[in-house]
Amino acid sequence: MAFSYMPGFGNDFETETLPGSLPQGRNSPQRPAYGLYAEQLSGSPFTAPRGTNERSWLYRIRPSVKHTGRFKPADYPLWKSAPNVGDHELALGQYRWNPVPMPKEPTDFIAGMRSITTAGDVLGQTGMAAHVYVANRSMVDDHFFNADGELLIVPQVGALRFVTEMGVIELRPGEIAVLPRGLVFKVELVDAEVRGYVCENYGAKLTLPDRGPIGANCLANPRDFKTPCAWFEEKETPCRLTVKWCGNFHVTEIGHSPLDVVAWHGNYAPYKYDLATFSPVGAILFDHPDPSIFTVLTAPSGEEGTANIDFVIFPPRWLVAEDTFRPPWYHRNIMSEFMGLIHGQYDAKEEGFVPGGISLHNLMLAHGPDSTGFEKAFRADLKPVKLDNTMAFMFETRFPQMLTRYGAELETRQDNYIDCWADLKKRFNGTPEGDWS
Ligand SMILES: [Fe+2]
Repeated sequence: MAFSYMPGFGNDFETETLPGSLPQGRNSPQRPAYGLYAEQLSGSPFTAPRGTNERSWLYRIRPSVKHTGRFKPADYPLWKSAPNVGDHELALGQYRWNPVPMPKEPTDFIAGMRSITTAGDVLGQTGMAAHVYVANRSMVDDHFFNADGELLIVPQVGALRFVTEMGVIELRPGEIAVLPRGLVFKVELVDAEVRGYVCENYGAKLTLPDRGPIGANCLANPRDFKTPCAWFEEKETPCRLTVKWCGNFHVTEIGHSPLDVVAWHGNYAPYKYDLATFSPVGAILFDHPDPSIFTVLTAPSGEEGTANIDFVIFPPRWLVAEDTFRPPWYHRNIMSEFMGLIHGQYDAKEEGFVPGGISLHNLMLAHGPDSTGFEKAFRADLKPVKLDNTMAFMFETRFPQMLTRYGAELETRQDNYIDCWADLKKRFNGTPEGDWS
């Protein structure tokens, strides 16, 4: 079955699966067509300014009060929420990991969530968590929603299908999806095994960054974001709904599928985006801009220019700058950087940072090209070079990212990561020429 999508970012969408199921000219008629219930899903306070006011109207077989019953506690011990501090002994450092191993036991998307870092405070609705998901089993009668934040999903291995109450998103590596806070969904696997990264955003929603002098085009263009058309199932079988709420998990049993929205309209909705449609802007003479030039989505913190989260990619691009050290420069940062590699090679670290791997460069901890990368870059013949077969990304936050016990003890952590800078030589010799031997 092919699922369809509507283009645009933050549009006021409307979609119906049955003719006339979406009320026109009003939100809450006395008797909605097809015997549907009208329900509003609010992603912002009612009184938020127009530019950030987000809500959708859902026309569904049963109202959501019928999609929860009495809750019982549920246990997902590897999915952590901030603050999650001091649960391991690992000393401070720059860290890097090989990929998180695939599970040996049957594991669905929710059970397969492994938190690597948390930042900020879930109760204060600030900060984020960075997770890796690994799964080998579809959710069939199990459903989930996250009251703690929206989920930015970055697949790295395998295609998946996010069957949400507002429509179906098919997603493969190279694409990303954002599922808003509170949205009910289940995850079906298209491929046998899947792995990817998730940024759980506790704060204000991800949005497109301003472009400033770049103008009205380039970077992520709004029309390349795709929101699913309505889709529903009428399934009267025992189902479960699990909720993540203030860091804890709760499960409730219901007698039917909660994915029963026949029509909806509004601007609070899930979406996907193909990273290949990102139009990068960069240096065309010398130096290069800060990596913020590659921001796909940003979640504001309330302080101007200081993001709760920036989602930044490092896409294929031409390097043409003259008399320039072309890889990312050495760097210390007030923002904390969680990086992943979807495929290919990252130019500052050609070895050791592998697809599915992770690196973490936290608040004010130094990082930059490894010794090999530095040597190669200062010796390079600076003709135009196409940096191809690469797609790295960064979840960057204003808050320090606290490593979880799972991340600290993960067997794929590279204990020798720090050694990647060991061979950087002293090149100062008191002469203007320096020692570039
Ligand atoms: Fe950095």
